[in-house]
Amino acid sequence: MRTVTTASAMQRLAKRWQRGRVRVGFVPTMGFLHAGHLSLVRRARQLVGPHGRVVLSIYVNPLQFAPTEDLSAYPRDFERDAKLCRSEGVDVIFAPGPEEMYPAEPGAAFSTVVVEEQLSKLMEGESRPTHFRGVTTVVAKLFNLVLPEIAVFGAKDFQQAAIIRRMVRDLNFPVKVVVAPTRREQDGLAMSSRNKYLDESQRQQALVLSRALRQAQERVRKGAPASAAQLRAETAALVALAPQARLDYVAFFDPETLAPMQEVRPGVQMALAVFVGRTRLIDNVKL
Ligand code: PAJ
Repeated sequence: MRTVTTASAMQRLAKRWQRGRVRVGFVPTMGFLHAGHLSLVRRARQLVGPHGRVVLSIYVNPLQFAPTEDLSAYPRDFERDAKLCRSEGVDVIFAPGPEEMYPAEPGAAFSTVVVEEQLSKLMEGESRPTHFRGVTTVVAKLFNLVLPEIAVFGAKDFQQAAIIRRMVRDLNFPVKVVVAPTRREQDGLAMSSRNKYLDESQRQQALVLSRALRQAQERVRKGAPASAAQLRAETAALVALAPQARLDYVAFFDPETLAPMQEVRPGVQMALAVFVGRTRLIDNVKL
């Protein structure tokens, strides 16, 4: 396994692979890896085969954090991440420094961004208006540096995956986007690097997200179509039972277009964001 830290070295290596017709699978991350990330690595390996190369990037992208968010507190542990990557058979970790991705030269600082203008405005975009332009910009850059045939994203960040798909289509990136299922802890909590922020009591209260999703799933699978308003009220009531939990949003939408649905039937996607203490958690399922 190799670690590459500069954009130019990564792109040189990627071009060499391309000339040699080596298949490249890519897993972009912000590090502090957990079993969810590693399931994406396994999927990438499966897709490119034993002779392909799997690249995992680790980069805590400042552009996708608002000034009020947790950029400086975001958990980091490169040594541990590197060990996990080695044992999963990652070929290259791409871990660029911050100045590598966004040059800050006086008078010639980074000044180009990639903006998806529709899907980015919904759900997460309402609460975090500058988040997705940070994501699309960094993922576009990473695609240009790693030149992957396949890139694997997690369904945990459902809207993010939909926006990346749209960007790839709209800007003709020669990349196949694959979305892998959400990995959960035994008790249902979706794995996330941000779970580290939770104390013991908050960790218990964080179960309201997966419980709310399961409750809605059962309702919709059993009975007649429910109204989004009714399911929203039931979710709010459940979240209110946890003293440190505050519902940010809950949404019911078409999984392809992300268009909000008033009538909720099986196949509709449900997503929610909840603050538990100061930690903002998200989760989603297909109903
Ligand atoms: P990060 O939060 O580190 O997530 C990296 C990838 O892992 C994303 O595709 C995410 O959906 C996936 N992932 C996270 N938790 C998961 C889980 N429990 N099960 C399955 N997959 C999971 O998402 C980002 O980083 C960044 O926005 C990034 C795309 C790297 C751009 O900076």
